[in-house]
Amino acid sequence: MEAASKLDVEAIRADFPILQRRIGDKPLAYLDSAATSQKPVQVVEAMRRFTDHSNANISRSVHTLGAEATEAYEGARAKVAAFIGAPSPDEVVFTKNSTESINLMAYAFQNAAFDPAADPRFKLGPGDEVVVTEMEHHANLIPWQQLCLRTGATLKWIGITDDGRLDLESLDEVITERCKVVSFVHVANLLGTVNPTSPITRRAREVGALVGLDASQSVPHLPVDVTELGVDFIAFTGHKMLGPTGIGVLWAKADLLAAMPPFLTGGSMIKTVTMERTTFADAPAKFEAGTPPIAEAVGLAAAVDYLDKLGMANVRAYEKELAGYMLERLETVEGLEIIGPRVPIGRSATVSFTFEGVHPHDVGQILDAEGIAVRVGHHCAKPTCERFGVNATTRASGYLYNTHEEIDRLVEALGQVRKVFG
Ligand code: ALA
Repeated sequence: MEAASKLDVEAIRADFPILQRRIGDKPLAYLDSAATSQKPVQVVEAMRRFTDHSNANISRSVHTLGAEATEAYEGARAKVAAFIGAPSPDEVVFTKNSTESINLMAYAFQNAAFDPAADPRFKLGPGDEVVVTEMEHHANLIPWQQLCLRTGATLKWIGITDDGRLDLESLDEVITERCKVVSFVHVANLLGTVNPTSPITRRAREVGALVGLDASQSVPHLPVDVTELGVDFIAFTGHKMLGPTGIGVLWAKADLLAAMPPFLTGGSMIKTVTMERTTFADAPAKFEAGTPPIAEAVGLAAAVDYLDKLGMANVRAYEKELAGYMLERLETVEGLEIIGPRVPIGRSATVSFTFEGVHPHDVGQILDAEGIAVRVGHHCAKPTCERFGVNATTRASGYLYNTHEEIDRLVEALGQVRKVFG
């Protein structure tokens, strides 16, 4: 039986044709939405309608199609801005994905190192510190690690407790007066932990550091309001929130974007150009060199409409209950160990686990034979794996279209793993 919920999950499932697929003779149970979500017909149709009816490049033509395409693209920006509580659409930069959004931020610091006139907030060198956490996806670790290697700054991180939470007791030690930027994961992709933001943003403010969030796993699953969060920037991606691949978002405060040097340069991001010099357009155009992902922005706007209609508080409530059910049922499987918080408080419906004596790839294959799609491996979070002394985990990640029955099938199939491997 479904939990008391304001989501009509059966009606939602009808919008996702792929959920009718069979893998061999088994119905698909898609439990890999933390890697990428499935797309409802509304998103695919919006993209097709745009492509069939209005496709043109933006901001370059006076013809009707050009005007319609520009309107659709800028309309998508406004929709995304409203969805995350951004004060202005001009604070929303479209990128390729979260990884590019975070690189855009990190390169602002790196490029500032070569510019004597750069805003001091972006000046980084030996003696300065950058802080992340031990539970980062590689996308919010490697760009900062490389930045530190190139500028001589020091990378520090907030550790993880045994139960998969951030070790906030060490906060004052890790974030010091030397810190220039703290970038941390909102919802961890391997552990499923939903991190509290206020203790970290408060400490970052105390020491005058900029503070940002990797919101890749939070914007799709819970209400995110950048004004309420009180951060300086966030990064997220379209394909994990029912939208298409190829489009991501960087939101940053207007004054930061104004002060930041561009990351990629080229067409559509300029004011004037001579053979010797260029002056740059204002944000967000300054950060959107070249032809952007236009149809993808239209698809993302349709995904935002879809989520908005359901209500993010309802999505969160449903997934919280689903997480509780997943944890409760998985705990009954002999030999299975959950890596991450074991209670459905401050956690998402993404649950990683190991199986005594069985490699996650073998678990994944047995589950696939039952029609159940999970992700196995290090989940692009190798330091998190190392923290828990494992090379890899099996990860089941639920979303608004998953049912309790699919969790039951997962648990039953895990019973097969025990039979096969004793
Ligand atoms: N970041 C994605 C995941 O966790 C790819 O699977």
